[in-house]
Amino acid sequence: MPFNHNDHYHDLLLRELPAAGRRALDIGCGNGKFAQKLALRGMAVDAVDADGDVIAAAREEAGALGLPAEIRFEQADITRMTLPPNTYDYISCLASIHHVPLETVERLREALTADGVLVILGCYRETTLPDHVVSALAVPVNAAYRLAVFAWEQRPAVRRNAPRRLPEAPVAAPRVSLAQIREYASTRLPRSDIRRLLFWRYLLVFRNGRGAGAR
Ligand SMILES: C[S@@+](CC[C@H](N)C(=O)[O-])C[C@H]1O[C@@H](n2cnc3c(N)ncnc32)[C@H](O)[C@@H]1O
Repeated sequence: MPFNHNDHYHDLLLRELPAAGRRALDIGCGNGKFAQKLALRGMAVDAVDADGDVIAAAREEAGALGLPAEIRFEQADITRMTLPPNTYDYISCLASIHHVPLETVERLREALTADGVLVILGCYRETTLPDHVVSALAVPVNAAYRLAVFAWEQRPAVRRNAPRRLPEAPVAAPRVSLAQIREYASTRLPRSDIRRLLFWRYLLVFRNGRGAGAR
């Protein structure tokens, strides 16, 4: 499989799973790879995507794996869905929040349990000098990763067991800058951590903190 910037950050997102978490929601799940990883950790996952082809392929892939927990795939537009309040221990959006109005995160926040965690692996519009510098630095590192993946894929054992190609998930150009995301989160997702990542992404982590341990 080619080097994928979203997949590259899966482990970073999985570190934010609450220890006692049971239910997860993955928004814009694409081919369902991240939902599979949540299910492997025992989470019951609702995985939502607006695209019928990717949802069908994701459902088929996951069904063949015999995962320890259920993934319920649903073709739906997150901006039109009614989300049950106080339900999910973990909500993830991987490269999907820039496809919908940013205000959608407020509905996601309402769907979190008292100690729930919202993680957004987001794409942003480059507007500042630091944006452009980091973007330029990412280019050679990205090329090196791609080369390494290509070399690995040429090994006979890897070629024999190559996974089938899945439909490409729809992409969109981000319209909101990182500064705008930080400003928005400062009021709507207070105390969230936001950090810039190398491969044209940021990570936002919002811990609800309304639970017993909250001060
Ligand atoms: C760039 S892809 C990312 C897919 C996947 N999360 C990944 O990490 O590879 C963005 C996904 O968001 C989905 N999407 C776009 N608008 C959506 C909406 N309104 N509701 C649900 N999913 C949406 C697209 O169909 C697409 O699969």
